[in-house]
Amino acid sequence: MPLTSLRVDAQRLSASVQSLGEIGSYLDEPSGLRGVNRLALTAEDAKARRQIMSWMEELELEVSVDPIGNVYGKLAGSRDLAPLLIGSHIDSVPSGGIFDGSLGVLSGLEIVRVLREAKRTPERPLVISFFTEEEGCRFGTDMLGSAVATGRIELAQAYALTDRDGITVEQALEAIGFLGTASAPKPHAFLELHIEQGPVLLRGEHEVGLVTGVQAIRWQELEIQGRSAHAGTTPTYLRRDAGLAAARINVSLRDMCTSGDYGEMRATVGRNQFHPGRVNVIPSGCSLTVDVRNLDDEAMGRAAADLEVLYLKLEAEEGVIIERRVTAETRTVRFDEGIRTRMARVASDLGLDAHELVSGAGHDAQEWASVCPAGVVFATGENEGISHNPREFSTVAQCEAAANVLLQVALELLEA
Ligand code: GLV
Ligand code: MN
Ligand code: MN
Repeated sequence: MPLTSLRVDAQRLSASVQSLGEIGSYLDEPSGLRGVNRLALTAEDAKARRQIMSWMEELELEVSVDPIGNVYGKLAGSRDLAPLLIGSHIDSVPSGGIFDGSLGVLSGLEIVRVLREAKRTPERPLVISFFTEEEGCRFGTDMLGSAVATGRIELAQAYALTDRDGITVEQALEAIGFLGTASAPKPHAFLELHIEQGPVLLRGEHEVGLVTGVQAIRWQELEIQGRSAHAGTTPTYLRRDAGLAAARINVSLRDMCTSGDYGEMRATVGRNQFHPGRVNVIPSGCSLTVDVRNLDDEAMGRAAADLEVLYLKLEAEEGVIIERRVTAETRTVRFDEGIRTRMARVASDLGLDAHELVSGAGHDAQEWASVCPAGVVFATGENEGISHNPREFSTVAQCEAAANVLLQVALELLEA
């Protein structure tokens, strides 16, 4: 299909990203930059949700909320067909930037603005959406809203998840008024625009990324129980040091990553909290999280099995007990070839240098890929593509390039 003459208004898109970024904004002292702290289902998230819903209403979209708090804004089509769904998330990690997730949701709204200005009614309905707790930072499971909407996670199971203060997802949804009743749409196709969150596109001087798939992700929460004792008087052989066991886990993970035995494995201990956490007390406990990623499901399975062996070995060697629980687990995902081919053609017709790559981060699109053809386009990021950090930054032109690919592919998919 030839390109249409429609283009996004890059300044308008950028202004909306900046404006949403003010909600939950904080000053990052070391960098002097403003970051975003908008954990899922907090007051800040609720404020950002309401801001987007008011933009949706200004655009006369029909707004609905499903039982897990995902929000949908529907632009009617000229025919009553399965909709094209465009979406991402607006929750953030506590140390987030303003682009992660938000750029995708706001690019969807920008497409509606372009259609409204052109007085164009698509054949299919278009639904712009944002999904609850994509980050998994508050309740421990990532892509939660889209996983519930697409049936991978049961609603009751999701409702029962708790944050560190024991508040359940259901209570948090109710507290902010987002315990909805609408059904999730059954889309014809799903599209997501997201920042790359890595260095590949910038290093290769590529203007957009065409995402082939997402790597496998496995998260665990570990509670290590040792024994508190005096730091000065307890001989080494009598220690049951939960902190040391945690340190050994972290070092072993790095060794696994660099060994090459597990292909392209990445591992992170993102939380590591000692109890009682005092200078002269051997830690009696340690709470930690383990995030493991791999491009290969078989290698991921081996890593998981070998980690179990490591935990047993540490229990024996350090005299500790390691309670462990898998809080999130997704296999590798491949996105739809047909959509990717369309994206590649559109990018080339727009004169953009596009590059295919696998996503290192999880995305809502990977859940929707289980129920309909799905595709993701990446915007290039500056500062080596750093993300989950206030330095996260994509220029107006970088956002514009990806948003125009999204627009043109959306226009094609909106025609039945
Ligand atoms: C989402 O940001 C992830 O952790 O992949
Ligand atoms: Mn994201
Ligand atoms: Mn993120």
